[in-house]
Amino acid sequence: MRDPEGFSRGVNVRKHTLRSDERQGANNGPNNGNGRGIDIEEAVLRRYEGAARSGSGKACYIVCQIVGPGGKVIGVDFNEEMLALARKYQDSIGQRLGYHNVEFRRGKIQNLKVNLDLVERYLARNPVRSISDLFTLREFEEKISHEQPLIPNESIDVIVSNCVLNLVRREDKRELFSEMYRVLKRGGRVAISDIVSDEPVLDHLKNDPELWSGCISGAFQEEELLRAFEEAKFYGMHIEEMRSEPYQTIEGIEFRSVTITAYKGKEGPCIERNQAVIYRGPWKQVTDDDNHVLPRGVRMAVCDKTYQIYSQPPYQDQFALIPPREEVHLERAGVFDCSRDHRRHPKETKGMDYTLTQASPNSCTPGSACCP
Ligand SMILES: C[S@@+](CC[C@H](N)C(=O)[O-])C[C@H]1O[C@@H](n2cnc3c(N)ncnc32)[C@H](O)[C@@H]1O
Repeated sequence: MRDPEGFSRGVNVRKHTLRSDERQGANNGPNNGNGRGIDIEEAVLRRYEGAARSGSGKACYIVCQIVGPGGKVIGVDFNEEMLALARKYQDSIGQRLGYHNVEFRRGKIQNLKVNLDLVERYLARNPVRSISDLFTLREFEEKISHEQPLIPNESIDVIVSNCVLNLVRREDKRELFSEMYRVLKRGGRVAISDIVSDEPVLDHLKNDPELWSGCISGAFQEEELLRAFEEAKFYGMHIEEMRSEPYQTIEGIEFRSVTITAYKGKEGPCIERNQAVIYRGPWKQVTDDDNHVLPRGVRMAVCDKTYQIYSQPPYQDQFALIPPREEVHLERAGVFDCSRDHRRHPKETKGMDYTLTQASPNSCTPGSACCP
């Protein structure tokens, strides 16, 4: 598999694997046993050169050091050779780090239910020689999908992928996004680096096997990639990085790498707890992935779920959050009407009978705390 020039670094795993609040609880400074921290890429790219060429292995051996002994990393690849290479370094890297938190599983990213190692073992015992054998194989796959899924529902915090999405067949791409969504926990996220084109990829380029393995034929068009996340119900999609220089240009179509982050967890009931938010700007107004329109500087009513979402990445710096003066307990909270956007009168958050008058403790003089 060709590794596109300048693309191999892909997702900035240091930045996207753990949020800053999660970093505080994790061992973010892996130790080499001599009290000196290991340089993450040094360990993988130099000392374990083979691991750096091992498909999912490279990213896993970087991420496993970021999440530390309290975390767990699962590498998925469907290619036996790549997996064998990745697994070869599992023990030695684990011993060097002082903990073993990586595991490799064989499967397709567009079908994270079927464990292909189990299918391989089944086929060794039950070779397919007839249509009836084929049906029995399909039944076996169905059974293991439910009873021993490769990746169970809602079990993953972060999905990191570098240059794999474009290698999935067009007809499987919808399934690819719904599978990522299925395995993520609520509040989980993806950080994906892949190749996108600025114009639609022409049919004869799509069918060129050389360009396919070069990560060109299956490339998404820029906006198509963002839309695929949207259609799979992700929210907060953000282009973290986009190379200005194309990695390749073919017949005038530019192909370049992008890194996208996206979040899961915007569905659920809309509960009224008298919360409000003010969009800080700089745009005149913004529309979120539930089609709420938030004009700059306006105190808008939001449901509890939207309020919680806006208080976390990727939105937390963009809104002033206004909780009610008196908390509305969940058992007493009513239904919030999310079908229309409406302003929130300050009295709704403060309480209708709020008439306090309070003088400032300091007069407004230079150096006093009256202004931020
Ligand atoms: C271009 S390499 C990228 C490898 C690695 N992510 C990196 O950054 O170096 C693509 C890898 O994805 C694997 N792969 C391709 N299509 C896949 C699929 N549908 N499901 C799982 N793995 C796949 C290949 O076997 C190969 O190891």
